[in-house]
This record gives sequence, structure tokens and C-alpha cells, in this order.
Amino acid sequence: MCGIVGYIGNQSAAPILLDGLKKLEYRGYDSAGIAVMNNRTISVNKVSGRIANLCEKTNDGKNVKGCIGIGHTRWATHGAPTDINAHPHLSNDGRFAVVHNGIIENYIDLREKLIENGYHFESQTDTEVIVHLIEKYYDGDLKKAVLKVASKLEGSYAIGVVCADEPDKIVAVREYSPLLIGVGIDENFFASDVTALVSHTRNVIYLEDGEFAEITKDEVSVFDSTGKKVEKTVSRINWDIQAAEKGGFEHFMLKEINEQPGAVKATITPRIKDDTIDFSESNLNDLDVNNISKIIITACGSAYYAGCAGKYVLERLCRIPVQVELASELRYSDPLIDNKTLLIVISQSGETADTIAAMRECKERGAKTIAIVNVVGSTIAKIADHTIYTWAGPEIAVATTKGYTTQLSILYLLSLFIGKKLGKVDDSQYAEYLDEIKSLPKNIQASLDMNPAIPAIAKKYHNAKALFFIGRNTDYAVALEAALKMKEISYIHAESYAAGELKHGTIALIDDHQPVIALCCNEALFEKTISNIVEVKARGAEVLAVSFEDNQKTAAIADDVITLPRVNTIFSSAVEIIPLQLLAYYVAKENGCDIDKPKNLAKSVTVE
Ligand code: AGP
Repeated sequence: MCGIVGYIGNQSAAPILLDGLKKLEYRGYDSAGIAVMNNRTISVNKVSGRIANLCEKTNDGKNVKGCIGIGHTRWATHGAPTDINAHPHLSNDGRFAVVHNGIIENYIDLREKLIENGYHFESQTDTEVIVHLIEKYYDGDLKKAVLKVASKLEGSYAIGVVCADEPDKIVAVREYSPLLIGVGIDENFFASDVTALVSHTRNVIYLEDGEFAEITKDEVSVFDSTGKKVEKTVSRINWDIQAAEKGGFEHFMLKEINEQPGAVKATITPRIKDDTIDFSESNLNDLDVNNISKIIITACGSAYYAGCAGKYVLERLCRIPVQVELASELRYSDPLIDNKTLLIVISQSGETADTIAAMRECKERGAKTIAIVNVVGSTIAKIADHTIYTWAGPEIAVATTKGYTTQLSILYLLSLFIGKKLGKVDDSQYAEYLDEIKSLPKNIQASLDMNPAIPAIAKKYHNAKALFFIGRNTDYAVALEAALKMKEISYIHAESYAAGELKHGTIALIDDHQPVIALCCNEALFEKTISNIVEVKARGAEVLAVSFEDNQKTAAIADDVITLPRVNTIFSSAVEIIPLQLLAYYVAKENGCDIDKPKNLAKSVTVE
């Protein structure tokens, strides 16, 4: 995700801003920039690519004069990673500069109105509407102008603003994107997170949503959204830099597991307008769904397993046959594709070699392509006919978690969207299912909070030689991803099996105390899975069941139970995987594994 920094004091601002941006690099970005004011003139330096490019351009900031400035690392959302789209953004009259972390959901309307009022836009970003609105509403009081502008913004934002007419202050505002103030001596700072501040000061003020700060070198004043002054306490940071990058979590993976409610919310919210699914940003609203005879989903690894879970939902809601194909197989399978084939390509990185190759092969054979990717401007995003971005933010841990659940949330929306267009979903079902999807962030949070016993369960199973994950239908799809999570970070051999398959051979492996994790959230097949639990227990297995919290039956039959909030089975996969991500994490922790960087693995497999 983006990162913002600001400085005002007696030192040269540029080197401090660059140092702060370097501390935010871990968050992932694709461009960076700084705006520094000197003698009421704002100079902006910004580049695509690494901060090193910005340091080279400004001679490590030495060529940029001025003691007040703002800086930004950009994780592209609206508009590719280019110099023009990089922040800071300047007003047309050059008197204002803005940096922003977040997504302005109503930027299209705001942009159109500003253009009608004669404002000129340089970039494709949502952020640029902010700086032109501030110019429009400024009447000599920067804080008042920013307050007024914030009242017109919808979405999430942490903003920093400098103004050439008020060269002794910075105004910052927070709404859903983190922002804190660093309190120094004769100097003050702001930043998206502690890592950019802690080398200058450990005294910080955390802004809450809706709060504004007017920052001079001697004073920090905080106001609420009505402009009323708010008394804030100064906190003392005891974290080291390493801990701060992980937001206080021990590993990026655990941080990202806990980011999933927000990541899924950020992914679904911009696609639901007035209780209707809207894919206009992907030019999908006019998709000719009647011309689709089959859907093929292709991906690798966890993205493939997201496709396996999505298949059940697509077929259930659209009544179109769906094949899920490993990209490394599909690319060489002489696939049966024509112009009635819809190809859905899933990739967190958007750079997986096999997935790119499979996509090209299918496009050449006439398939229409929809890409679900997390990285703006990635290769897969550029090749696809339509691209739907997951707004998960950068994923640092090699083992994907929020990438998987945000992919699923898009597959749910897409299934409902196509099903409705085909007339396979009536109005009441549409409303009911859309409510279920909108409840995903809440239910994912509940599944995070509901199982404090997972670390203890992990202690019980961490020495296992092998782990079996069994389930049926949607439970089987989740079992596939759960097994991958377990093996790729704990190095324990883990396999997933369609529960009905056990008796066709695998059950020969079940011996005394063999741990079996049984996923029991598919209510229609619950009794069948219960009988599979009985089968393996009869042969000495220890069973950990995963089921809804109000299901007493599994508690009576399993040795351990992980519970979930009750959700509609159609959309349960995105919730059911959460405790299994945690189980894999804590087993790996017990085994002392390098959780964020597992051996032999890369975050993006850009070679065959
Ligand atoms: C998942 O935890 C793994 N890191 C890996 O299987 C990954 O899902 C796979 O390489 C696909 O990557 P992509 O989503 O970036 O295409």
C-alpha cells in the first residue's frame, strides 16, 4: 500500500523525507516522490520505480532546498506506475501539493465536476481530485479548506498538504488509512506508520478517523471533523524498526492474515453501488454473458485453489460448466477453446510465468479473458481483456493469505453478477447473496477472533509426519488451500483429499494417532463427512474438525474443533480458510520455520 511522510522544522526537509520513504519501502510500492517548499515555492520531484531513482535525481535531497515538505511511496491503484501518476500532486496554480494513501471512491464524479469548472488534470489518479478541490475551496485558511474538501471525499484516505501561502505549516487528515504525528524538538513529522518516524522521535500522536492535524515546527494541533480542537496524548514508541514494519506482529504472514477483513472490505466495497454489483471500472457491465458456453479458470498454487473454490459458486449461480485448470498443464494441453469460452485468470502478482503463458495460449484460440490480480499494471493485467483488481495491498509474506481471500471475494461478486445477468438468480436471492458477500469482512474478523485455542492445537500436531485435510465439495476446495499453506510454511507433508475418496486407497495410510483435519461446513454433505470422520477414527486417527460454531455434532465426535461464524455455505470458503491459515502459521512457528520466507520458495514464480 502507499506510504506518506512529512517534515517541518529547521533541518533540510528533502533528506529526511527520503529517509522516511526508504523506511516505508517494505510496504511495497512502484513509484515515489517528494514536494519541498522554499521561499513560498513548492518544488516536486517524483519518479516511477525505486526510491534510489529519486535519491539519484535529487542528489540524496541535497539539491532540494527548504525545511518543510511531504513525501510518498505509491502502490498503484488508479493509473499505472508512471512519473506523472506518482505523488505528490500539485494544484494547477502550483500553490498546493498533496500526498495521499487510500482510495477515493467518488473520484470520477469529483473529477468531472472539477474539469467542468476549468481544472486541468495531469494524472489518472484518484488522488489528484484532492489537490484541485483544495485550490478550489482555499480562501486563506488551509485547515478550513482541507476540512471542507474532506467532507466531500468518500473512501479511505491519509492526506498531507502543504500550501505556498502558509509556508509555516502542514495539514494532515486521516480517514480509514493510518496516520500518525511524530513530535520532535523544534520539528515535527507525520507518517503512515512508525517505521518512518522512530529514527527521529519515539513520541507520537495517533490520529483517529476523521481527525485533522495542523502541524508547525513548534506545535501540533488536532481537530475533529467539525473543526473543534481535540486534546491528544503523546505515546511513547518502544518498538524497534523490524517490529514496526510488521505492525507489532511477529511475522508479515500473521499481519496479513489479520489484514484480511480490511483487504476484503477494500476489494468488495468499490464494486457495490446502491446494493448493485458494478464492474464498470473493469468495463464488464456490458459483458455478453449469453455468448459464454463454458468458463475456464486458470492459475497456479493458491490462486488455482481459489479457482477451485470459485468453481462451485460460479456453477451454482450461473449454471455454466466451469473447468479449473493448472496453468502449467493448460498451456501444453492443446486446449479446447473458442470465442464462447470465458477464461478467468487469477494471480496475486500478475507475473507468474505459467499463468501468463496459459493466458496467451487461450487468447490466441479466441477466449475472452478476465484477470483477477493484485498488482496494478502487472503483465497479466495488461494482457487481459478485462482486469478486476483485488485491493489487498502488497503481500510481503511468500505464503499468500489476503491474496487468496480477496480473489475469492471477487469470484463471489463475479458469480452473482453473471448469474443475475443470465436470469439464474432472482431479485430476492441476489439481495440475500449480496448481503452475505457484504458480511464477509465481519465474518472473517469473527473467525479470526473465535479460536484462541489454535496455538495450543498447533502444539499438539506440529510433530506430525503427515497431515490429511479432508472435505467434500466447497470443503474440499478449502482443504486444497489449507494443505498447501501447511506444507509450504511448516514443511510437514500435508495432503488434501475429497473425503469420499479415502476408501479408494488413502485410508490405508491412517494409523494410530494420524491427525486428520476434517472440514465440515458444507451442510448439505455434513452427514457424509461425519461418516468419513467415523471411518478414520475407527482406524485410530485423531480428528480436528472445522465447523460452524452452533454445530454440536462435530464437538461430540472430533478430538478437537475449530469453529466458524455461521455463513451461507455458498460463500463459506473465504471464512473457513482463516483458522486453517492460523493453524499452519502456529504449527510452522512451533517448528521454528522461516515463516515469511520459506525455503526454496519465491513470492512470484516468474520462470517456468
Ligand atoms: C501461495 O501461498 C504460494 N506462494 C504460491 O502457490 C502462489 O499462490 C503461486 O505461485 C501463484 O502466484 P500468483 O498468485 O502470484 O500467480
